[in-house]
Amino acid sequence: MNEEENKDSEINRGLEGVIAAETRVGYVKGDDGKLFYRGYEITTLADQSNYEEVSYLLLYGHLPKRNELEAYSKRLRNESDLPEELFSFIRSVGAKTHPMSALRTALSYLSSFDENESVNDPEDQERIGISLIAKMPTLVGAIHRTYSGKEIIRPDKNLGYASNFFYMATGARPDPVESKIMDTSLIVHADHGMNASTFSALVTVSTMADMYSAITSAIATLKGPLHGGANERALKMIKSMGKPENVEKELKRMTENGERVMGFGHRVYKVYDPRAKILKRYAEYFAERSGNENFKTAEMIEELMINKYGERGIFPNVDFYSGMIYEALGFKPEIFTPIFATGRISGWVARTIEYSRNNRLFRPKAEYVGERGPLKYIPIQDRE
Ligand code: SDX
Repeated sequence: MNEEENKDSEINRGLEGVIAAETRVGYVKGDDGKLFYRGYEITTLADQSNYEEVSYLLLYGHLPKRNELEAYSKRLRNESDLPEELFSFIRSVGAKTHPMSALRTALSYLSSFDENESVNDPEDQERIGISLIAKMPTLVGAIHRTYSGKEIIRPDKNLGYASNFFYMATGARPDPVESKIMDTSLIVHADHGMNASTFSALVTVSTMADMYSAITSAIATLKGPLHGGANERALKMIKSMGKPENVEKELKRMTENGERVMGFGHRVYKVYDPRAKILKRYAEYFAERSGNENFKTAEMIEELMINKYGERGIFPNVDFYSGMIYEALGFKPEIFTPIFATGRISGWVARTIEYSRNNRLFRPKAEYVGERGPLKYIPIQDRE
């Protein structure tokens, strides 16, 4: 079969519906609005687990025993610091660069400090992967501080993963409620099937490129507004609408202009995203504390969108309420997607390791619809 001929199968644009790999890491039941990590339902993990335990579960396939969790958490704390050059780099670009661009470059730069950065064997993949899980909060925290015009804060090795991230990013140690909400936000973002950024990581590692390259690909992919970039835009959209009574007119204008309503719709979920349900509770908690109208406006958007598009399977997704929570926790909108990446790093690493254990180079086809040729070459002097 010639590469660009397409005799037998139709084109699956965006690989929609195409099964590209087997996995044991996680499962999205789109029709039922359920999400599982290694067989555990996201609602159970959000209520009862913590991010370190969920990260271990995604990587190793089982809930850790106490000693295993203690060892893993200790390893994450011990590997959470960064080379001084990274902090200098973040200070030099962090104030004027979009945090997702700074994160993409900073993570790639990290590989320069690893003498085995390009080694691709399973041990090095796991070593680098865990190192990156450990360092993401420090990277994103430092980027947020610099972007906010503040001094960088180094990790406090007495704090857990989510609390340390909150501390490094905001300068304050979280209270128990803030710590639980931060931790749960990271848990619900930790993994999500063959989403675009995870797929990017797998395509990269399928060439036997290293883990730094795979995660850099994933971060670059997550940045887009159709994927991780939606959370920042969803909050800006909610705030731009202002009061609930403005929503109907604004939504009508947007949909008549063919604009996408950020934080709605999903390639897999055709019902309410279970993660959005979990995060909505926290957004409401903060709305009651703050008294601002954003949450009421968001609820009006949700009600009208579900009335109009619900039967077409368009419901709130993970990105719709997350921004309100992050803003209430003290984060700037431009850091919302890096927070998404901080949760997702464990899923990216787990799936990259899993795929490379049974590797197959990704190399789909494209149907050629151009000039069949061969065309006669006309020298430039003879072209009119
Ligand atoms: C994430 O894949 C994952 O798992 C991703 C993620 C993860 O955890 O990794 O869940 C995280 O990326 C969540 C999605 C965040 N993105 C957004 O909120 C951006 C807005 N949403 C859309 O652009 C859209 O819903 C997508 C991209 C998320 C999904 O798009 P699909 O599956 O390709 O659906 P589609 O673009 O083919 O839309 C089908 C129809 C279209 O109408 P028609 O052209 O057929 O008339 O639904 C309409 C779309 O116009 N539609 C929307 C809409 N989403 C779909 N219309 C208005 N607003 C929307 N948000």
